[in-house]
Amino acid sequence: MEQKVVLITGCSSGIGLSLAVHLASDLSKAYKVYATMRNLDKKQHLLESVTGLHRDTLAILQMDITDQHSILAAQRSITEGRVDILVCNAGVGLMGPLEVQSEDTMRGILEVNLLGTIRTIQTFLPDMKRRKHGRILVTGSMGGLQGLPFNEVYCASKFAVEGVCESLAILLQHFNIHVSLIECGPVNTNFLRNLTKTELSDVSVEVDADTRSLYEMYLHHCQKMFQNAAQDTDDIVQVFLEVIQSPCPLFRYYTNSALLPLSSLKLTALDGSQYIRAMSKLIFSVENADTPK
Ligand SMILES: NC(=O)c1ccc[n+]([C@@H]2O[C@H](COP(=O)([O-])OP(=O)(O)OC[C@H]3O[C@@H](n4cnc5c(N)ncnc54)[C@H](OP(=O)(O)O)[C@@H]3O)[C@@H](O)[C@H]2O)c1
Repeated sequence: MEQKVVLITGCSSGIGLSLAVHLASDLSKAYKVYATMRNLDKKQHLLESVTGLHRDTLAILQMDITDQHSILAAQRSITEGRVDILVCNAGVGLMGPLEVQSEDTMRGILEVNLLGTIRTIQTFLPDMKRRKHGRILVTGSMGGLQGLPFNEVYCASKFAVEGVCESLAILLQHFNIHVSLIECGPVNTNFLRNLTKTELSDVSVEVDADTRSLYEMYLHHCQKMFQNAAQDTDDIVQVFLEVIQSPCPLFRYYTNSALLPLSSLKLTALDGSQYIRAMSKLIFSVENADTPK
């Protein structure tokens, strides 16, 4: 059977790397994986993670999703001349009080998470439409479904991606192209280490005392969430595989059902009040906060 050509963004680490390794290691060689990353100096980790040589199932390409030339160059390097499964996974985080974020920092997040995702889809969509065949998988986030304090811009970018994908999904069913969002909760990757985070120890950060104390509570909550509920990338890869192998994939998949009840409060009380109260209680109430003194 003809190999399915898969292109994945953000394969230098985390979810993208694990998915690339898994698909490229498929024993039946069902996939030809184009693992892309913005900085090829980081390819060693991926190469060390694939056992044996994968010349016929894996190629590594440079691709920065903020740079259209780089996306087009990657597209031209695909020897099969097509992508059957496009995985928009690359993303960056931003954490801290909104009022201290610079315009450049905020633009940087939107540039990668929103415009980068759109740019990537735009590039590969015309050919998928022409061939009336394709799958677009996007790494989504609970932060794209529910607001999280101190993650306003990150959530804005991921909410926006939801809007792009939902809108496209309606249209693209007429072209036999399936769009799916894989909604992740906390995952053990480099994400937290890589994100742009406001450090309270930074003397140039001017923020009022109440916000400072709430931010400390949030950081503590976040640390607990990652300790108690973070999934491994292998768990996430299993969900991606379910989507890839499904004859008719759904629009949304949730990797961590433990996080769903909070999100569903938005549907039970459409005015938003229940969700906001519950999330606030979860993060900021004294008994849950367990803040170090
Ligand atoms: N980990 C979590 O808790 C979590 C939860 C929900 C959703 N997600 C989503 O999962 C996706 C993958 O993140 P991860 O957890 O695997 O974190 P990660 O290990 O930090 O991986 C992020 C990847 O995106 C790449 N990237 C960043 N900017 C890029 C750009 N301009 N062009 C191309 N690639 C770029 C990074 O490359 P560099 O190495 O060059 O920076 C890296 O390969 C993201 O979309 C994130 O929002 C993660």
